[in-house]
Amino acid sequence: MNINFDVTKTIKGRKSVRTFDGNRIKESDRSALESFIEKVSNPFDVPVEFRLLDASRYDLKSPVVLGSDLYLAGKVKRCKNFELGFGYSFETACLYAHSLGLGTVILAATLKRSSFEKAMDLCEDEVMPTASPIGYPAQKQSLRESLMRKSLNADDRIAFEKLFFDGNFDTGLKVENAREFAVALDMVRLAPSATNKQPWRAVVDKDTVHFYEMKSIKDSSLGDIQKVDMGIALAHFDLTMQTEGYSGKFIESDPGIKLPKNVHYIISYKSVN
Ligand SMILES: Cc1cc2nc3c(=O)[nH]c(=O)nc-3n(C[C@H](O)[C@H](O)[C@H](O)COP(=O)(O)O)c2cc1C
Repeated sequence: MNINFDVTKTIKGRKSVRTFDGNRIKESDRSALESFIEKVSNPFDVPVEFRLLDASRYDLKSPVVLGSDLYLAGKVKRCKNFELGFGYSFETACLYAHSLGLGTVILAATLKRSSFEKAMDLCEDEVMPTASPIGYPAQKQSLRESLMRKSLNADDRIAFEKLFFDGNFDTGLKVENAREFAVALDMVRLAPSATNKQPWRAVVDKDTVHFYEMKSIKDSSLGDIQKVDMGIALAHFDLTMQTEGYSGKFIESDPGIKLPKNVHYIISYKSVN
């Protein structure tokens, strides 16, 4: 997959958009997005199928979205790491859309799921964890959106040293000790997450970052939505490492360290520089 946009600039400038200006998106932006979503991949080898869907044709609705007639939706088979792979690929597509000046908000709960699933021709072994409206952001957020952002504390993030740790969960990681991982971990902090719970945790141990999920939302029939959050965060991390010129790979290598309550090991990233 060729990442042809400024990843850190896009991540820093991104926030969810629920109020759009009502204009159709330009043909050039639509075709750029269409070509991009055909090629999006993830390091977990999970195939994700994307579609751009016209809302009026499929009766697609969300009670939180205003002024958009286009949605991006994705579906995936329930295979190993499907939530991680889906989250990674979906966020990569959303970041690309933002880099074109388009707005997105990842929706798992506030959407008319039956219409979306029908439009995606969902089979029994498949799941459509999320969809997002696509369009140009309106000048001003709707009152509903600004109240929603306030109630979610959507602009707030947990401090770096409380999300990321040095060798074990008792020692907060100082940015200045995070070496080649500092920028990429800071981009994890800026990731969107379901109800802004920010479930991502990481322990840095020499050339390896071990990622964990702090689980606070119960599984549903769609799986673990916070694992989708983890996949999104891993996209922020990995795309930043790549564009900063570092290489590394995701491996399963649970270090077996003592874990705080509700924290589960997910995956590790080993730097090869
Ligand atoms: C997996 C996932 C599911 C989400 N589901 C919804 C949703 O159903 N409705 C909604 O309005 N926002 C949803 N959001 C958006 C979050 O509320 C938003 O990302 C968070 O409040 C942080 O705000 P920001 O994206 O502007 O940084 C979801 C985000 C993620 C990552």
